Amino acid sequence: MVRRVVCPGSFDPVTNGHLDIIGRTSRLYDEVVVAVLINIEKKSLFTVEERIEMLQEVTKEYGNVRVEKFHGLLVDFAKQQGIPTIVKGLRAVSDFDYELQMAQLNYRMSGVETLFMSTNPEYSFLSSSRLKEIARYGGDVSGLVPDLVLRLLVERLRG
Ligand code: PNS
Repeated sequence: MVRRVVCPGSFDPVTNGHLDIIGRTSRLYDEVVVAVLINIEKKSLFTVEERIEMLQEVTKEYGNVRVEKFHGLLVDFAKQQGIPTIVKGLRAVSDFDYELQMAQLNYRMSGVETLFMSTNPEYSFLSSSRLKEIARYGGDVSGLVPDLVLRLLVERLRG
């Protein structure tokens, strides 16, 4: 039996914090499906296709990561893909309330389990939105995102 897990998110763009969770998860499971949320209500910097391409490029070294997009409920996507487990990174206690509620609702709706992985402390302050804000105003975000993402981020923000 193939042990599959899903790592969901917006990934606008993928950060080294995300990659740390995806990479560590890839050592625990046979296959990791990174699921990019299609959210038409939220304005994003990168299109879903751009985010998928970046994720494919930066996760290819793991060898067992597949990148997909989804819309609607995450648990419907997980069921449809035959995935029983969601893995989420927890950066701090402040993430916990929100994540716990979502995990409980997801379990209640579908029986799909959520496992939490503690973020590497090196990235516990990191979020895609903070990162974009810093980069937008010319701050240095090198070391917080993969080099490819850094290049695309600077290109996009400088228009
Ligand atoms: O990177 P993000 O934006 O924090 O990721 C949030 C995500 C995509 C994991 C979450 O918003 C999600 O699962 N959305 C899909 C809609 C859904 O299933 N909602 C019900 C949650 S109880």
